Order: sequence, then structure tokens, then C-alpha cells
Amino acid sequence: MTGMVTPSGLLAAIEDVGADRRRGGFSRHAFDPAELELREWFVEQAESRGLRVTADRNANLWAWWGEPGDDAIVTGSHLDSVPGGGAFDGPLGVVSALTAVDLLRAKGFVPRRPLAVVVFAEEEGGRFGVPCLGSRLLAGTIDPDRARSLRDPGGVSFAEAMAAAGMRPEHVGRDEEALRRIGKFVELHVEQGRGLVDLDRPVAVASSILAHGRWRFRFSGQGNHAGATLISDRRDPMLPAAQFVLAARRAAAAAEDARATVGRLVPNPGGTNVIASTVDLWLDARSPTDAVTRSVVEELSGLAERFAGEEGCAVEVTEESYGDTVHFQPRLRDELSELLDHAPALPTGAGHDAGILAAEVPTAMLFVRNPTGVSHAPEEFAEADDCTSGAQALARVLEHLSA
Ligand code: GLV
Ligand code: MN
Ligand code: MN
Ligand code: MN
Repeated sequence: MTGMVTPSGLLAAIEDVGADRRRGGFSRHAFDPAELELREWFVEQAESRGLRVTADRNANLWAWWGEPGDDAIVTGSHLDSVPGGGAFDGPLGVVSALTAVDLLRAKGFVPRRPLAVVVFAEEEGGRFGVPCLGSRLLAGTIDPDRARSLRDPGGVSFAEAMAAAGMRPEHVGRDEEALRRIGKFVELHVEQGRGLVDLDRPVAVASSILAHGRWRFRFSGQGNHAGATLISDRRDPMLPAAQFVLAARRAAAAAEDARATVGRLVPNPGGTNVIASTVDLWLDARSPTDAVTRSVVEELSGLAERFAGEEGCAVEVTEESYGDTVHFQPRLRDELSELLDHAPALPTGAGHDAGILAAEVPTAMLFVRNPTGVSHAPEEFAEADDCTSGAQALARVLEHLSA
């Protein structure tokens, strides 16, 4: 692609936006200054390509090649990140979509059906806790009132943050018009594992997404003085929380291909010389089936009760999000695999907006090789040549689907 803008070139253009000097990597969360800057950057990039950009009712951005219309071929991803995340998870799908448009233009391709590049809002749930919030709202799989009232750690609600960014939270919810416009959806994403490294291939198509969700466990005890409170007198919620973390690992290891993670734990009030009054922790649990994921969470909920009781504490469990296993449409998957020189089909343990849309429209995903296999961390990576191969593959897919 000599002389052309490449996915890596576009990623380099945004490498200072939301760079997290404290944690490393990037922290770009819905409607924070970094994410808003990226949204603006996306609008400029799209408009410089002659695409027409609109925002839908759910804070997702759409850039149209040709007149917006029904049955379009849509591609895109997200621009937000986890705290201290990598450069590729999300943005690679967006910049590859823009590059694919460039490639198609350069060869004189004129789409016979509308083509759009989409940027979904709050895919990671890094600010308001529910992942794929923009696509869930679009598809109507989260109650709009609940979405509006989700709060970030600083107490700002989704509705307040959306309004502050100049959008209308009163209008969020299932969007029939936007859904009708999506004929097929294809999301390109950096691989979040080493499947392609092991296969020595640059690009794969996705086969499935694990059944996964997030649960908040709130352990409550008695806040007290770290020196003046006898060990025998304590009701310290950190104790059941600590036991829970160990139990989560054991429960996942004992179940069929399950994963359980406690990546966030917040003691309140959080002082070195203070026995916490409450500890909130979040369980992320996943497995290939609804039954296994649910049984891991059920087992852990029972253990949480027991651990809390042994310390004179209480525990309250709240399911914050859940999605059953996604099997991407086999016909489309195989069609794209064949088109892409028999690209391998790989499952993924990560959630994606494509997983939400798969319940509504024929949906596929492409993965680009990640030599480190690491994701949701600064070491996430993809070689420039592989990113280019990914964009070329995406261009072929868009051309094929919109013919
Ligand atoms: C999103 O990347 C997730 O799987 O949590
Ligand atoms: Mn992610
Ligand atoms: Mn992602
Ligand atoms: Mn004192």
C-alpha cells in the first residue's frame, strides 16, 4: 500500500490520545476527553474521505459511503479501552475500516449497496460497568432506564455524561431504523490470544464467543480501627473477599474450559489503618456454555455466603451484564474463510459488539495476528504488515458482500 495511509499509520496518529502515563497503555472511556477527541478525529477522518457521519440515538457514530439506506454492509469497532489497555483492541477495527474504504476507492470500486463504518460507544464498559453498551442499547438488550442510571466510579451517570457530551440520553434504546440499515456486519479485531501465531497465519475468521458476564459481590462488615480492634472482635469484609478470589480460580480450573477473574476490588473507605466497612469486587466469568458459566457463578455465590458468614459479614450479589454463547453464522463464516484463502476459524474468549449484533443480523468477525497473545494490557500488539493484511482482507470482504 505504498503512498496510502495504512492501519498502523492511522494508529500512530492517535498514539498520544488517552495515553495513560500512570498505568501504561491507554485509558479511553466513554465521553471522557480522550474518547471524545478520538470520536472527533474519526469524524474528521471519515469526512476527509467523503463519508457522511451521523450519530445514532445511542451515541454510536456512523460514517456512510453513499446514501444511508437499508440493508447496508457495515463494518467497524470501538475506540474506548479498558483501563491501561492496548493500542489495538477497538481502534484497529476502526482504522482498518477506513483503510478498507481507501483501498476500495483506489481500485475504483463503487458500492452497489450502502456501506458504513460504525464506532460503538462504551464497548469495554470501562466507565459505566456494562460492556457493549452502545450496541446493547441499539439492539434493545438493556433497559434504557437502567443504562441511563449506570454510574461511573465518580458518581456521574451515563445520562449525565452523555448529556455533557452534547447527546440526548432521553432517546436511548432499541433503534429499529438503525437496525434495519444493517444488512450484514463485519468487525475486524486484533486477536486476543495466540491462535494465529500457532497457525502461522495473519488473519482468521471468528467462530464463536464464550458465554460471559460480570457480577458485583459486595461484602459488608464493620469498619473499625486497625490497631484498637482485637482480631477476635473483627468483622472484616476483606477476609471473605480474599477467600473469594482464591475460590474463583479454583472453581474455574475445575470447570470445563471456564475462566473466572477478579480484576477489580474496591475496599471502602480504603485506608491502610482502617478495617474496611465494605469491599466490592467484580467477578468476570466465562465458558463455552451458558450452563457451565452459570454453574461457576452459582457455586461462587454459595461460597461467598459461607465466607461472609464465617467472618460475621454479609454479601450481596448483583448481575451487571450477561451474554450467552455466540455462534457466528456458519454460512457467512465459511463464505468469508473461503474468500480469504481459507482463513482459519477461531473462537474467542473476548466479548464484542459483533456478539450483540449477531442476534439481529448476519454477523462475522476477522482477527489479526497478535504476536504477544496479550490483550487488555500495553503489550497487546500486531505487526504493521499483518494490520495491512487485515485491512486488505476486510476490503475484499466488503467488496464481496456489497456486490
Ligand atoms: C471485552 O473486550 C471483553 O471481552 O471484556
Ligand atoms: Mn476489549
Ligand atoms: Mn474490543
Ligand atoms: Mn487515631
